[in-house]
Amino acid sequence: MSVRSSKSTKYVDSDILIIGGGMAGCGAAYEARYWGRKMRIVVVEKANIERSGAVAMGLSAINCYMGLRWNENTPEDFVRYTRSDLMGLVREDLVYDIARHVDSTVHLFEEWGLPIIYDEKTGHYKREGRWQILIHGESYKPIVAEAAQKSASEIYNRIMVTHLLTDARNPNRIAGAVGFSVRDGSFYVFKAKAVIVSAGGATHIYRPKSVGEGAGRTWYAPWSTGSAYALLIQVGATMTQMENRLVVTRFKDGYGPVGAWFLALKATAKNAYGEEYEKKYVDEQRMLYGNYVDAKPFPTCLRNDSMLRELKAGKGPIYIHTEAVLDTREKEELGWEDFLDMTMSQSIVWASQNIDPKTTPSELQTSEPYIMGSHATCSGAWASGPDDMATDIYKWGYNRMTTIEGLFGAGDTIGGSAHKFSSGSFTEGRIAAKAAVAYILDHPDYHPDIDTKMVESLKDEIFRPMENYNVGKNKIVAGTVSPLYIYPNQGVIRLEKIMDEYAGGWGNMYMTNEFMLNRGLELLTMLKEDLSKVAAEDLHQLQRAWELHHRVWTAEAVIRHTLYRKETRWPGYYYRADYPKLDDTNWHVFVNSRYDPAMKTWYMSTVPVMHIIG
Ligand code: FAD
Ligand code: ADX
Repeated sequence: MSVRSSKSTKYVDSDILIIGGGMAGCGAAYEARYWGRKMRIVVVEKANIERSGAVAMGLSAINCYMGLRWNENTPEDFVRYTRSDLMGLVREDLVYDIARHVDSTVHLFEEWGLPIIYDEKTGHYKREGRWQILIHGESYKPIVAEAAQKSASEIYNRIMVTHLLTDARNPNRIAGAVGFSVRDGSFYVFKAKAVIVSAGGATHIYRPKSVGEGAGRTWYAPWSTGSAYALLIQVGATMTQMENRLVVTRFKDGYGPVGAWFLALKATAKNAYGEEYEKKYVDEQRMLYGNYVDAKPFPTCLRNDSMLRELKAGKGPIYIHTEAVLDTREKEELGWEDFLDMTMSQSIVWASQNIDPKTTPSELQTSEPYIMGSHATCSGAWASGPDDMATDIYKWGYNRMTTIEGLFGAGDTIGGSAHKFSSGSFTEGRIAAKAAVAYILDHPDYHPDIDTKMVESLKDEIFRPMENYNVGKNKIVAGTVSPLYIYPNQGVIRLEKIMDEYAGGWGNMYMTNEFMLNRGLELLTMLKEDLSKVAAEDLHQLQRAWELHHRVWTAEAVIRHTLYRKETRWPGYYYRADYPKLDDTNWHVFVNSRYDPAMKTWYMSTVPVMHIIG
């Protein structure tokens, strides 16, 4: 009996289908229930919503909070900050929309039991930095997930969504999705009147710095596998800023975040000779990148750029001087809690390398690139903006609807709007869900029409890796090298090598050029050909196989976008050696792409950046 015929098919009907129960997905479920009282709201999650997504381990800060009730900031200030941090290019309508709503989300979190730290002197939330507040956040995700669990009609855990389904009568209209249970192997067909994709960002596209004992460790969650991008690309949704990959400065080896250390504890970073270096290269940077270097705070990518210049000059290692700031018990606790709440691995690295942060500085490094839409970067889907903010070119439908009718996105999925973080992602989920409810109410006669032949052929395709294994394993006596197939992990390693060497990974100091990108694309095309030969010995490996597919699609979009933008817009994230300058005359624009599934062709274009906030 073939593998696919041994797997039962289960149909699930919904009004709203939410794919990915992370921060944005939980926000979407909560808000969809508020507006769509009687609607059938279904969440499908590849892990378990209670501890899934980038917040699984917990967090020690909420990085997006305005403090409007205490007049701490305005949404306009936030747009200006985000814009200058992203070297001028953000969708200001989307950023503003999050800024004006995000505080109410944080107040809900507190009401649901998230311990937020207060400043005894002011009575306000205790600030980590201008936009960030401190929390005791080990249980952040379970608290937020509880609200989603109470709101959704049903939550399907352990189901990996592999493909979206468009309507049989209209290929530009969403109708559902398919996937499989990682536990029992059932094939699931979800029908929906509107779909919200909130499936997180992408790691392991580029070769990580962690190898050997630490293999697999990355800063952003290793289970963020690019589904949010690949699902959308394959049905023809327009994507934006996929070249705007994120590189973050992190504590070496454990990838501990730096925010609490720089902002709350006021630690400084110095080279091996004890010199501060961040502003050392400003004159050279101004010549190449213009007045963006004068922004306050100094943009995230330029902070990386300064560090990379210092390392190239042989002044490494770079140290963060934790020992100079942990002078009280309170600060020491804050430092340890930062990692114990959010990145335990860093505390473990400290313990295993005999580093006591009170006496010894820690090394910093820049990470491998990640593809995300919620941090200091804005890769993702091109989305319609809010009614009262968006200009005509940014508005063709409902808020946060992609260019596919009825297909919405939130969090890492949506491009053009950076610095959402956990609270902004949840908020964007709420915004998308409210719009999705309106969309359904405005189209009362719509019933999803799914092409059953297409669904059957997808079932074949989804279980093929198990079929490949069953047939091909007989050619192997021992080991993992097969003449007939590759394992998902072998595919990921090949992908990471291609991206690292040709598309501006850390192995090449984030440098690339047209020749390298074209060669990378060539090798990626060969990897794509081999994807039909991936083998999975069990359901876990089947999930890995489909994660690999999603990563490869995401990588292709990254290369195509990087090729198209002929300038270096975000030094420190990547450099086009053939266009080393930031070029505002020609490239103060968004780069958009669309893959046409019928023609199997990519189309690239640019869209103006409209400055709505002065
Ligand atoms: P996620 O929360 O990652 O959710 C995506 C969900 O989709 C996951 O549950 C995943 O399992 C599911 N999924 C993926 N693919 C599929 C598929 N094919 N089928 C079904 N389900 C799928 N933010 C802050 O505000 N403050 C901080 O201090 C902070 N620090 C961070 C530290 C670390 C170590 C990390 C990793 C992140 C940090 N962030 C912080 C960022 C924050 O976690 C993200 O911005 C936010 O989680 C993004 O939300 P999202 O819903 O888009 O993605
Ligand atoms: S986190 O998502 O893992 O928490 P990180 O620790 O880098 O990321 O940053 C937390 C917050 O602090 C983000 O909003 C980031 O932009 C900001 N941040 C980090 N370092 C600095 C710095 N040196 N100057 C200004 N802002 C910073």
